[in-house]
Parts: sequence; structure tokens; C-alpha cells
Amino acid sequence: MSSDESRKDGATGGDDPVALRRAFLGAGVGVSVGLLAGRGWTQSDPARERPKEGDLLVRADSPNPVPLKPDDLEPGALQIMAWPMDPAAKVVRDGSRLNKVLLLRLDPATLGETTAARAAAGVVAYSAICPHTGCEVVSWVSERQVLECPCHNSQYDPKGGARVVAGPSPRGLAALPLRLTDGQLTVAHSFVGRVGIQQL
Ligand code: FES
Repeated sequence: MSSDESRKDGATGGDDPVALRRAFLGAGVGVSVGLLAGRGWTQSDPARERPKEGDLLVRADSPNPVPLKPDDLEPGALQIMAWPMDPAAKVVRDGSRLNKVLLLRLDPATLGETTAARAAAGVVAYSAICPHTGCEVVSWVSERQVLECPCHNSQYDPKGGARVVAGPSPRGLAALPLRLTDGQLTVAHSFVGRVGIQQL
């Protein structure tokens, strides 16, 4: 996906029905028929479907979709970006940037109670999309142990549910609960919290 396409996806909230409805109205398209047709197409494309329970995770920067294990992440190091993958069909869900997640491996003893329940062997997963204006949260401030978005410096506490600790972001990052299956990082539940930018 190109950066322009990526930006557009994040700016409209991806599959968000309100954003889609606005888009159709703005284009002068009939509301009901157009909206239903658009939703139907999106939901039939597994690469655009949101992460599901049982999905595996693969590196976003590798053409080789090998399922990730906790030992693939260095404890306390910079987060890596990943896509969910349907384990049966081997479909990588990279058709929407709103599916991109960041993975971070932390000391399990330092995690808050809710975060610990969503972690697997100390690995936590959050939406990679900053809720402020949709940049990717690619920075890690190791001395403060916080995730940072480089666009306007919003910071998130990965040990505390990725709540906002600094910057203009209106809310924390959506969490993706994990578990282990045969030693592989596996999605335990769909996103908890809203993915994408703030809608007006
Ligand atoms: S887009 Fe992340 S802080 Fe503005």
C-alpha cells in the first residue's frame, strides 16, 4: 500500500461507518444502496478485516510471513511493527493500515494488572496508529519506557494500557490481547478500544 493510500485510510477512519457515510454523501451518491454496497465489499476482503482471535502475527517489514514468537523480540528494545495473519488461509491482513500493530517485549513483573492479562510472555500489542492525526507510533523512549509518536510527540505508557502520558493525543492506543499457541504469538481477542484517528 502506498503512503498516500495509507494516509487516506487513517484519515477516514478506515471502515468506520460514520466516515464512510460522510464520504458517500459528499460524493452525491445515494445513501442506502451505496453505503451497503461499500460495507459488503470491505467485509468480504480478509486482508482488510480487523485482527481476529486465533490470528498469528508476522513482521510488517519482511516479505516472509513467519509467525512471531516472544524470543523474536528483544526485551526492552524498540517496538516492531506487525500484521495479523489468518493462520488457515495464510492471508496477511495488510489491506488496511488500521490493522498494523506494534509489539513490545517487557518485563512481565512491571506490567499493570489489565496489561498483564493481555500480554503473552511479556509481549504487549497495540494499534500502531496514533489517534491524534494518524501517524505511526514508531519511537521508543527507553529511559522513560514510553512509546512516542514522532509527528507531535504524543507519548503512551505500554505498561499501563498505552494510556496517554504526554502530548496532544485525545486517547490511548487500542490494545490487542495476546496469548501463546504452540509458542507463537496469537491474537486472543479483537482490538480493545478504538482504532484510528479521532472523528469529529
Ligand atoms: S499524529 Fe501522533 S502525536 Fe500527532
